[in-house]
Amino acid sequence: MREHDAHRGLSRRRMLGVGGALGLMAATGLSASAALARRPSFTGAELRSAVPLPPPFQVSLPIPAVLKPVDTSGGTDRYEITQREASAEILPGVKTPLWTYEGTFPGPTIESRRGRPVTVTHRNELPVPTVVHLHGGRTPAASDGYPTDLVLPEGRHDAATNTGHGSEHGMDGMHDPRAVITKLTRDYTFPLDQRPTLLWYHDHRMDFTAPAIWRGLAGLHIVRDDAEDDLGLPAGKRELPLMIADRAFAADGSLAYPALDPTLRERPGVREPYLAGVLGDVILVNGAPWPVHEVDAARYRLRILNASNARHYELEAVSDEGRRLDLVQIGADQGLLAAPVTHRLLPIAPAERYDVIIDFAGVPIGSRVRLLNRLGSGRTHDVMAFRVARHTADDSRIPRTLSTDLPTWHRSDAARVRDFSFRAGRMRGGHGWLIGGLPFDPARTDVTTRLGEVEVWRLVADVHHPIHLHLVGFRVLSRSGRSPLPHDAGLKDTVALRPGEAVEIITRFDGYRGRYLFHCHNAEHEDMGMMANLEII
Ligand code: C2O
Ligand code: CU
Ligand code: CU
Repeated sequence: MREHDAHRGLSRRRMLGVGGALGLMAATGLSASAALARRPSFTGAELRSAVPLPPPFQVSLPIPAVLKPVDTSGGTDRYEITQREASAEILPGVKTPLWTYEGTFPGPTIESRRGRPVTVTHRNELPVPTVVHLHGGRTPAASDGYPTDLVLPEGRHDAATNTGHGSEHGMDGMHDPRAVITKLTRDYTFPLDQRPTLLWYHDHRMDFTAPAIWRGLAGLHIVRDDAEDDLGLPAGKRELPLMIADRAFAADGSLAYPALDPTLRERPGVREPYLAGVLGDVILVNGAPWPVHEVDAARYRLRILNASNARHYELEAVSDEGRRLDLVQIGADQGLLAAPVTHRLLPIAPAERYDVIIDFAGVPIGSRVRLLNRLGSGRTHDVMAFRVARHTADDSRIPRTLSTDLPTWHRSDAARVRDFSFRAGRMRGGHGWLIGGLPFDPARTDVTTRLGEVEVWRLVADVHHPIHLHLVGFRVLSRSGRSPLPHDAGLKDTVALRPGEAVEIITRFDGYRGRYLFHCHNAEHEDMGMMANLEII
């Protein structure tokens, strides 16, 4: 949508100085980061793969298998997932060892109905402790995957040997008196009493979330309901989950990652120059490099997740004739919008989800539509392609009203306004990423709020920070005093702060009492301190 481009232009200009970002940064003491703010696409450093990379749009798009429940009696769907090492041929002819859920990357997809509880028994056969978090889930605290609620692997039940890193380096379950640690398995219970949407589950272990996701610990979880099914949106083969993630490959075929401790047990953190985020030079969609998917000349529903650690994308769909196709957004992180919003360019930050319709009718049969990333360059400019194979009937529709149950919180409903800064700083004697000047500490309660209260949060950033709240969805109220952007529509659980920006969000803390989190979802920032406790009482 042109409107979108106009907004972008405006905000760029504001960032480049006219009283916008730099003024704000000076006013809030963020001037040290001004140099970074002048590089608006800077979100990390890129690793180079040491194996030959395939040409784009050759490998076909895999669709992660839907996991079968082991039991559906008693009103609950029960699943079992084993976390284990496996290897996969991600690049043609190259074997890549992975950490997986059930042997695959992405892990198997779980499909659920709204309000029908799910229990997933996770069994940890990996060489390290793990923690599972259902991102976007309205989940009781005991199953939310608090970073010190470890599931210890077999043979490592001795606390001293498996969580050996001391206070000097890191923090773990052994230093957190509230941690609930289990041996080998853990049952996670998800009521899923929430708006239907695309969720994802991923590892969330203290200090080591970023490398664990990078090695493969991520999967999709889709929640549906009858109202959404009745809308007539593209469905079945014309609904595609797309988990986009960048990676890099070492000479031996393994996934390269600049961990200080490659065993991911003792010393957290990454080497210079990757402190701002780890980027790969290969773009995977559903675990395949720059894949291609054959489609009918019809509408498709793309359920897009950016599962990258640090890479931001700005997606556009371009036909071989050079035409940009509309990306009709129907949903955000937390489900359907009130009404569709049309984009030509769609920015997507780590952990965000966009539910988008593309209509391939009118694209010449036999030609392609490429999904491109305007923020990438060289090979990272390509994401995937669709090859339009045949004419077809299409009885799908995009209703003008998609949902009528979005919360309508007003500023005047807010019990309080809180301010948080997200910026670089010092931590454990080295580089860190801080919220309100502090690195994460499980022992400190950063925010206490009452169940059911509405709050406005004002989030100020030095560089790009995609900020995520557990448990609740929120709405974006403003960006640096201006209206939200078109892609801020709907109910979100992750919002991309841009350099120097102040973003206001509003939410109601309902659902469950207990200890939750909010954090940056640049996974390297998260591991390097940019996380805080949210206690709902
Ligand atoms: Cu997707 Cu706390 O995480
Ligand atoms: Cu989450
Ligand atoms: Cu961040």
